[in-house]
Amino acid sequence: MLHRDSRGRGADVAARDGIGDAVRVFAPASVSNLGCGFDIFGLALERPGDEVVVRAAEGSGIVAVSVSGDGGRVPTDPERNAAALAVQGVLDRTGSETGVAIEVRKGIPLASGLGGSAASAVAGAVAADKLLGGGLDRTALLECAMIGERKGSGADHADNAAPSLAGGFVLVLPGRPPKMVALPTPDDLVVAIVHPAMEVETRRARKILGDTIALEAGVEQWGNAAGLVAGLMRSDWALIARCMRDAVAEPVRAKLVPGFEGVRDRALAAGAVAAGLSGSGPTIFAICRGRQSAEAAARDMAGAFRDDVGVGSDIVVSSVNRDGARILECG
Ligand code: HSE
Repeated sequence: MLHRDSRGRGADVAARDGIGDAVRVFAPASVSNLGCGFDIFGLALERPGDEVVVRAAEGSGIVAVSVSGDGGRVPTDPERNAAALAVQGVLDRTGSETGVAIEVRKGIPLASGLGGSAASAVAGAVAADKLLGGGLDRTALLECAMIGERKGSGADHADNAAPSLAGGFVLVLPGRPPKMVALPTPDDLVVAIVHPAMEVETRRARKILGDTIALEAGVEQWGNAAGLVAGLMRSDWALIARCMRDAVAEPVRAKLVPGFEGVRDRALAAGAVAAGLSGSGPTIFAICRGRQSAEAAARDMAGAFRDDVGVGSDIVVSSVNRDGARILECG
């Protein structure tokens, strides 16, 4: 089968029929920061997610990149594509000279605050590793995925890639290598996600934060981060509600999402335990007890975006995805 870059910019690749010598991986969207955990907390959702197929191809290294589901906006240049950069990271680490063609199927909206570039990078890294024999451990895969993520946001942070890779609610400690710590969540924790028809570029949303924070905000933030971990470990909903707040990034970024405060307040009025910007936004998350509560919060948040700002939204109600990235096909 002759496989061509869907935009006609890549090389032709001789690949085998069907999924032979290819691996297809799904990596889920994620909610990062979760209030007080700027760059260190993230949680995996059941959906949406990105899929990446990495296929053995003639030649050496990455010979073609194609992308679908992105409206033609995600670069297919291997040096600018998150999945391709992660795949290259795997090839470099393993010293492989195998030729590969990469197909990215975007399911996560662009610039949504749902960790789309991280999911593509994670799926690419996991697929490439599996294709080459599955020799890399999770930390190595995370580091490869971070190479792709870095290109998009301009910074080293693994709070989307870590939950997308490993699933669950993850604390990721920065450093080389970063350290992933799985945190428990109450069984009845359900997340409501409302993605308004707006975009926020993470790179810009990071730039407006500057480099320093006030001591008072720091004290509040690290108190909340510690309190949230304790709350999760004890399934103490009152502590979770008190601590899942952002004293550092969200107050600065709120202006990037028209209607943010009103939407967040509607979630809390509907019974959500906590609500805030998902990553750098514009998606807003609400943490709820039970599916019924999450459905009410999602409906009311979407209603607030519609009534107060005049924008439509997509809604997702999801339990915590415990699995993270998963191999869908391999052969
Ligand atoms: N922690 C990152 C940030 C996530 O808030 O900039 C970006 O989605």
